[in-house]
Amino acid sequence: MFPKTPLANSNISPTTTNKKTTASPTNATLGFIDQLLNKIPLPRWAIYIIFAVIVLLILVCIIWVCVKCCCKSKKERKNKPDHQINLQGVTGSTTTSLVQPGSDDADYGSAKNRGRLLYSLEYKAQELTVGIKQAAALPAMDLGGTSDPYIKVYITPKKSKTLETKVYRKTLNPVFNEHFKFEIDKAELNESTIVMKVFDFDRFSKHDIIGELRLQLGTIDWNHVIEEWKDLSEPSKSEDIILGEICFSLRYVPTTSKLTVVILEAKNLKSMDVGGSSDPYVKVQLALDKKKWKRKKTSVKKCTQNPYFNESFTFVVSFEQIQKVQLVISVWDHDKFTRNDAIGKIFLGCDAAGNQLRHWADMLSNPRKPVAQWHNLFSSEQVDSTLDLKHSVRIPFINKNF
Ligand SMILES: *[C@@H]1O[C@H](CO)[C@@H](O)[C@H](O)[C@H]1NC(C)=O
Ligand SMILES: *[C@@H]1O[C@H](CO)[C@@H](O)[C@H](O)[C@H]1NC(C)=O
Repeated sequence: MFPKTPLANSNISPTTTNKKTTASPTNATLGFIDQLLNKIPLPRWAIYIIFAVIVLLILVCIIWVCVKCCCKSKKERKNKPDHQINLQGVTGSTTTSLVQPGSDDADYGSAKNRGRLLYSLEYKAQELTVGIKQAAALPAMDLGGTSDPYIKVYITPKKSKTLETKVYRKTLNPVFNEHFKFEIDKAELNESTIVMKVFDFDRFSKHDIIGELRLQLGTIDWNHVIEEWKDLSEPSKSEDIILGEICFSLRYVPTTSKLTVVILEAKNLKSMDVGGSSDPYVKVQLALDKKKWKRKKTSVKKCTQNPYFNESFTFVVSFEQIQKVQLVISVWDHDKFTRNDAIGKIFLGCDAAGNQLRHWADMLSNPRKPVAQWHNLFSSEQVDSTLDLKHSVRIPFINKNF
């Protein structure tokens, strides 16, 4: 019945293969792969293992890339909290009194950690020796998570010379142990400020400033060698710029415990607005035991660099308190649209220096008489770092007295 089986076979087989290809292409590709595998001179299991290894390798690569990406963004996110933790550690370990419940959060939010500096100061035979010992917990300025720190040291306002340390590579905790000498006489020392600026070295671009320390030398007791850690602060922007002068009178009446400050006038105030003029006003603050205590301010004088105020403020300050109190006088530019800017600042008190100490001492030695004097303004960063004021104290009972 089937004499032509081979022909029939050959006839059937092409149709079946045809059917296969049209009906299910996967089967065809499988068949093709099968043929291909047959051509490879390796046992089937060996080929499967090689295939499995290749797939595994690709998977591992993909996972590695994913993990790498995740870690990087995590690290970036983690960077800031890290510094804040450092800051908390720093303040916690140096002065526990600094940690006050309630007001800490706001402070940590606004203050960027710039690290700390251990320095020493010694004044002997008309020579000031500044020791730059070491820095710690500096922020990372480079992409690699490190910095290349070095420090510049100079004295203002007479910036006779600027000295600098070596650059320390890839570290956030450099140990410098370098000493710098400045020839300076006692009178000039009383009016000077030492500036230590920490920079991040960069061969190819402008060196970033990490932070700075400013210390008014007139306030220092030179009977001892000073060696201490201090937090670096934000670099002052108003370096070597004339900020202006202010004239006010002071009067203290011990019997009534009344301190009267009359803000008379200011002149040559630095303009803070783009237009070139300012709307100045003056804040008069008292600080006690490194805390803000009382505060008053003058009216705003429109569009002038030489305002005349003649405004009087009276504070109740006991005779005991007058020897510890600091009077902080600051000139501000009133700005309707943005935050008000401080033009300049000074402070007076028994721990003030130079001209300011003289004025305060004159007031104390001439009770009941108003004593007026002109003062040069300093940058508020400089005064703030000298004062190192903490949070304000509220003594409602005393405030009600007047
Ligand atoms: C410097 O100031 C101190 C007080 O801060 C004072 O005792 C001293 O006489 C002043 N020296 C000079 C030379 O002005
Ligand atoms: C300053 O104010 C006082 C009173 O507060 C006044 O007696 C005096 O005349 C004023 N001086 C000037 C120059 O306006």
